[in-house]
Amino acid sequence: MRLILMGPPGAGKGTQGDRIAAAAGIPRLSTGDMLRAARRADTRLGREAQRYMDAGELVPDDVILGIVGEALDRPEASGGFLFDGFPRTVAQAEGLRDLLSEKGLSLDAVVSLDVPDEELVARISGRRVCETGHVTHTREVGESKVCPQCGGTLVHRSDDLPDTVSRRLGVYREQTEPVLEYYAAGDIGLTVVDGLGHRDEVARRLDAAIAKTRAEAVG
Ligand code: AP5
Repeated sequence: MRLILMGPPGAGKGTQGDRIAAAAGIPRLSTGDMLRAARRADTRLGREAQRYMDAGELVPDDVILGIVGEALDRPEASGGFLFDGFPRTVAQAEGLRDLLSEKGLSLDAVVSLDVPDEELVARISGRRVCETGHVTHTREVGESKVCPQCGGTLVHRSDDLPDTVSRRLGVYREQTEPVLEYYAAGDIGLTVVDGLGHRDEVARRLDAAIAKTRAEAVG
């Protein structure tokens, strides 16, 4: 399965993407996670990305397409993949189209999670993450600093502060919503799924939408 999971910051892409990728036995390729890993490793890429991320701005397209190209070349992506947080600009979508066409591959589905802004802000302001990338929420762990999954230390992501969140939402409207239109107008189409409600309920809606899109592509 080759899938793109889109949606604004805090929509639940990581939460649902992890689950879908694990069930399908494919890697979740999150450009945000790749950039944060580069920051932790203090590489040149990580240092360059940091100033964009902390300001809530997008990292330049050529940098992103470079790391995505490398990820697609890895053997674990040969049986399929789920993109989370990519593409975020029309130029990235066009770059992905070219990368896939060089490999003779096409996408199976593009799905976007729809969540109202006030809920996005509530989800992001309460989000806590640990060093190994597990994500939880103060609704689940309260003020505890201990990751329920690995026992690591929970922190607030550095770009989850209120001013940065509002900029990230603005950037999403300006630069990423046109990507939804790009896919909606293309052969594969865009499936929009209601991302509001309990995560199990969202999971059921997503699974049904993906199965339907794939069945339509085959039929
Ligand atoms: P990135 O890491 O991709 O962040 P994002 O897209 O802003 O998305 P988030 O990680 O904030 O949210 P999510 O949708 O994954 O939600 P989650 O599952 O965590 O990007 C960060 C930065 O990197 C960008 O700003 C940019 O600078 C740079 N970048 C990355 N990719 C780039 C690209 N392609 N081009 C250029 N720059 C790029 O859920 C959020 C919270 O809600 C969690 O606490 C979770 O527990 C909770 N939650 C999840 N589902 C539910 C539910 N159903 N009900 C209640 N709570 C829920």
